Amino acid sequence: MYTIVCASQKGGSGKTTLSGHLAVEACRAGAGEIALIDTDPQGSLAAWWNVRQAPAPHFVKAVMGDLEEALTGLHQAGIKIAIIDTPPAITQSISKVVSHADLVIVPTRPSPHDLRAVGATVDIAERHGKPVIFVINAATPRARITGESAVALSQHGTVAPVTIHHRVDFAASMIDGRTVGEVVPGSQSAKEISDLWLYIQERLSRIVRDPDLLPELKPEHLAVNSLLTVTEAGVETATAPVEIAPAVVAEAPVLVEGPERRSSLERRVLVEPRSHERRAFGRRSNDHPFWGAK
Ligand SMILES: Nc1ncnc2c1ncn2[C@@H]1O[C@H](COP(=O)(O)OP(=O)(O)OP(=O)(O)O)[C@@H](O)[C@H]1O
Ligand SMILES: [Mg+2]
Repeated sequence: MYTIVCASQKGGSGKTTLSGHLAVEACRAGAGEIALIDTDPQGSLAAWWNVRQAPAPHFVKAVMGDLEEALTGLHQAGIKIAIIDTPPAITQSISKVVSHADLVIVPTRPSPHDLRAVGATVDIAERHGKPVIFVINAATPRARITGESAVALSQHGTVAPVTIHHRVDFAASMIDGRTVGEVVPGSQSAKEISDLWLYIQERLSRIVRDPDLLPELKPEHLAVNSLLTVTEAGVETATAPVEIAPAVVAEAPVLVEGPERRSSLERRVLVEPRSHERRAFGRRSNDHPFWGAK
């Protein structure tokens, strides 16, 4: 079993939103049995999962002291990937959670406050020798500070080539236990999440050297992702000219099995066709070998 930890000292950076969305996307992508672990006493992820109708992903609420036991239980239950949401803090216990990680995801808003806070999270990951991926979250479309933030973050480590933009979809979809991919499957928000998971799955497979984890579809299109801008209408166009941003210097865990909660008639089908249409540099998505293969 592999473990992804969503951590950042800064409150409200998107740890819970990304944990839930990535776990659902991992299920949709067929990455195996996925479990979410909520270690945050605020219980936001637990509240989301409790109103969720779909059986996947599995869910565990664990207090920090029981995490090890929870992970062992999930491993024995055949879970392939556990995604852990953590509270906004830098404590001994967060450090302990990170010690179990194969990969640490640090959601960061493109703001000076968030950027200043990343150092503490990175220190913990480095102390445990854990790889970090920054995900810029809640970015304003076409804002210059997004590129500048990416440059600033790159001083500390890898920045995901997929930026998650600020959209009401992300909050609204979570009201009734769903995600943007389930509520608005063809949207830009859904595309961002599926691209982000594709990237993370690929990175994880390389980090843990598990070729079975390699996504069937190679995330080659992500190489040009950051050269695209998102308009208010949600249509992507190539930026021309491409502006190079100047650098900013820098209790016993309770395993709740999803399928037991709902009758099968009530379950929604998780795997929905990905009908995203994209246009990059004037080329239709279905002309591209990557998308054409789908
Ligand atoms: N990309 C986004 N677009 C719009 N709203 C977002 C986005 N990401 C997160 N939010 C909203 O921002 C708020 C904080 O997000 P979230 O709860 O995921 O952060 P967090 O890091 O888990 O917070 P905490 O540190 O308190 O646990 C929530 O209301 C969420 O709906
Ligand atoms: Mg949270």
